[in-house]
Amino acid sequence: MADIKVTIIDREGLSHKLIAPTDMSMNIMELCKAYELPVLGECGGMAMCATCQCYLESDTELYEQSNDELDMLDQAFFVEENSRLGCQIQIEESIEGIVLRLAPEA
Ligand code: FES
Repeated sequence: MADIKVTIIDREGLSHKLIAPTDMSMNIMELCKAYELPVLGECGGMAMCATCQCYLESDTELYEQSNDELDMLDQAFFVEENSRLGCQIQIEESIEGIVLRLAPEA
């Protein structure tokens, strides 16, 4: 399978169904930018800015968060139990059907 479906709910509550390629080493932050959703991704995906923060709204199993991600979320605003950094979620088959909501801009 080369493509998966990803749903991103934007800050106005609109749901965007995106098709995401699994063979391009992309992450969710990059996918959002490719679709021109309002995700800054200021640090370029280094887990150093939290502008890609989103909330996991599906029961998709993700990898455990790295210390870098946890440290960044420790310093970020609007952090919830289900907060994740979009740049740390790789597009791969195991996240087919994932639903993520963009966190407010800090
Ligand atoms: S893009 Fe900076 S933390 Fe994700």
